Amino acid sequence: MKQCRFGVFGFPVSHSLSPVMHSAAFKSLGMEKCEYEAYAVTPENLKQEVQKAQEAGFTGLNLTIPLKEKIFETGLIIPDEFSKKAGAVNTLHFKDGKIKGYNTDAEGAFKALEEAGCSTDGKNILIIGAGGASKSISLFFAKRGNPVKIINRTDEKSKKLAEEISEKTGNRNVFGGGFETGWADLKKADMIIQTTELGMGKYENVSVYDRLPLEKGKKKEEMIRDCLRGGKTVFDVVYNPEETKFLKESKISEDVKTLNGVMMLVCQGALAFEIWTGKKPDISVMKEAVTEALSKEKENQ
Ligand code: ATR
Repeated sequence: MKQCRFGVFGFPVSHSLSPVMHSAAFKSLGMEKCEYEAYAVTPENLKQEVQKAQEAGFTGLNLTIPLKEKIFETGLIIPDEFSKKAGAVNTLHFKDGKIKGYNTDAEGAFKALEEAGCSTDGKNILIIGAGGASKSISLFFAKRGNPVKIINRTDEKSKKLAEEISEKTGNRNVFGGGFETGWADLKKADMIIQTTELGMGKYENVSVYDRLPLEKGKKKEEMIRDCLRGGKTVFDVVYNPEETKFLKESKISEDVKTLNGVMMLVCQGALAFEIWTGKKPDISVMKEAVTEALSKEKENQ
C-alpha cells in the first residue's frame, strides 16, 4: 500500500484530537502507511495550503475553526448538497484531480445519538445556540422532518436561522426565539442539543440554565426537574470538559439521558474516514484514543 496523507487544517489547531483519533483508526485496520497530522493554517493561507496538499498527494483533510466557512471563498472545492446548504465544510476529499467537500458534523451528532440508543425519529428537537454548529445540526434534523426550535441569546440570529432553514428544507416546523421562553421550550422538547460556548473555556462555570429567567419564587433545580420530566435526552456538543455544568445540572433524575460531545467528535471523524478510504473504522478504538488524550490533558493541567 502506498503512503497516504491526511490531516486537519485549523487555527489554532494544536489541541485537535483528530490526529490521535484517526491514527488509532488507521492502526487498528493495519493501515500503518497512513499518516494524519495537524497543520496550523490561517484563513489567509487556506487556498495555497489546500493547493499544496493536493500537489503533495494528500487523500483527505478535515477543516476546523475558522476555516469551515472560508473554504467556499477559495473556489477550489465541489461541495456536496448538504455542506453547500450548511455553508460549512469539515471534510475534503482529493480524488481524480478534484476536491470534494462534505460536512460530517451534523450526521456525526445524529449517529452519536443513535449509538447512545436515543432514536430521533419524530422527536421535538430543541437546539440551544445559533452559530455554526447549530446551523448544520438544525439543518440536518429539519431535513429529516423533525420539529426544530432554535433558541439563542441573540434572538434575531435564531429567528433568521430558523427562517433560512425552513426555506432550505421546506420544513414549516422550524422556529427561532430567545432565552425568555427557554424553560417552556425545554418542557416541550424531547431532545435538547446544546451548541453554545457556555460550559467551556472562560464559561466553564456557567450553564444555559443560569441564563434562563426563573419563575418568581422558584429555584433553578425545581425548574430543571420540572422541565426535564419524562425521559428526555440532553446532549451537549462540548467534549472538553467531558461533563459541562449544563450536563451535570441536567442529571436531575434517572430518566434523563445525558450525552457529551465525545461521540459526536468520533462519529464525524468516522464518517470522514469512510469518505476517504471506503472503510468503516472501529469507533470504539477512536473513542478510546480520544478519552485517553482528554484524560492526559486533564492530568497535565
Ligand atoms: P460555533 O461555530 O461553535 O457554533 P459560533 O458560530 O461562534 O460558534 O456560535 C457561538 C454560539 O454560542 C452562538 O449561539 C452564541 O450566541 P450569540 O449569537 O448570542 O452570540 C453563543 N454564545 C457564545 N457566548 C455566549 C454567552 N456568553 N451566553 C450565551 N450564548 C453564548
